[in-house]
Amino acid sequence: MTWSPFDSKVMEDPGMGHEYLLEQCPVHLYQSSELEFYTLSRYSDLESSLRDIEVFSSHHGQGPNFSEPAGMLCDPPQHTIYRRLIQPAFSPKSIEALRPKVIKLTNQLVDDIFSGDGDFDLHDQLAFPLPVIIIAGMLGVPISDLEKFKLWSDIQVEVMGSGDPEKYREEQQSFQDYMVTHLRKRKKEIEIGEKVDQDLLTLIAAAKTPDNESIPESDALSMLNQLLVGGNETTTSLITNLVWRLLEEPSRWKMLLDDRSLIGSAIEESLRFDPPVLGLYRNSTAAVSLHDQVIPEGKKVYMYYAAANRDPDVFENPNVFDICRRPRKHMSFGLGTHFCVGAPTARLEAEVALEVLLERMPRLSLLGSGERIKPFFLWGRRKLPCKWR
Ligand code: HEM
Repeated sequence: MTWSPFDSKVMEDPGMGHEYLLEQCPVHLYQSSELEFYTLSRYSDLESSLRDIEVFSSHHGQGPNFSEPAGMLCDPPQHTIYRRLIQPAFSPKSIEALRPKVIKLTNQLVDDIFSGDGDFDLHDQLAFPLPVIIIAGMLGVPISDLEKFKLWSDIQVEVMGSGDPEKYREEQQSFQDYMVTHLRKRKKEIEIGEKVDQDLLTLIAAAKTPDNESIPESDALSMLNQLLVGGNETTTSLITNLVWRLLEEPSRWKMLLDDRSLIGSAIEESLRFDPPVLGLYRNSTAAVSLHDQVIPEGKKVYMYYAAANRDPDVFENPNVFDICRRPRKHMSFGLGTHFCVGAPTARLEAEVALEVLLERMPRLSLLGSGERIKPFFLWGRRKLPCKWR
């Protein structure tokens, strides 16, 4: 058997080939005219390599192409400085403060759906607007620019996975220009002592280097960019994947209607079974010997969370979707130094979305399984037709 993340069958069902990788090919080499990378799949291999940040570096980006270090897309010490800077926005206190906003917004979106005839698209009308409006609020930019945000976020993702990132240069520039304008405006307001919101934009605009200089604009923009993309498509996919799997087998939906205490484990099982980020890359800084193979220095290494989440050495009956599974540590938010800073926000949004849907749309059902989103390393539905009547 051969395996490739770009194979049409694997694109349609990323669960295809996990067993082959885990059992027979724990160090896989992909080569084409555009890309070359190694793939690691076993839970224990990902666990040790994601912790070994000296050898498996983040200095050249999370995608299959090599990029320049910027913002948090790098190794410590720079990574540590920037991560500490934004961490307060994701503290348990900040997340709890966000809860009423998420509840209100989710209910408003459901009200809008109720104004229709009963058929609706769960991606377009709930799973997409919810995270993008929340992250826009956290970043301090107007939600009137929602559609632009969606476009830019999609482009950032396309750039990461593309063999030819240059072709997106123009759209990337318009996003940079937009964010620069907001960043400079906020800096000015802080300088002249105006009262400003204590959001992520303020944290980043007010940040200083150890020499009391403003941090480089390129790093500030990289962080804003990463927060926009990280906080957006991924959470949308969590919500669509979760609802899709629950409705695919209506007895699962019924179990949740009868017992809301299963909401937390259903979300964790969705993350394990259908990771919105199937895998991300590291860069080898030295030759590594693993399972009788050598990954040379200077190579891209794909950390395939999706396969690690199905490793039978860690998860019993890994290919069964079981909302009662006792949660174990899945890899869907990464591990170690770069563990997803936004995980509590994503969990909060998924929890509220599911609670509100169960409460207000108990008869929710699928009208189809929609379509997969495009980038090979992401997994979610970009359409999910449903009906609530
Ligand atoms: C279900 C939703 C989400 C998933 C599956 C997800 C997945 C991930 C993963 C796998 C990483 C690790 C990156 C690496 O190891 O290189 C990561 C990091 C990150 N995520 Fe998320 N994420 C989600 C939601 C969010 C949200 C809501 C935000 C922001 C509001 C966010 C912001 C970030 C940032 C800034 C990082 C970089 C952390 C660092 O390098 O220290 N993510 N995410």
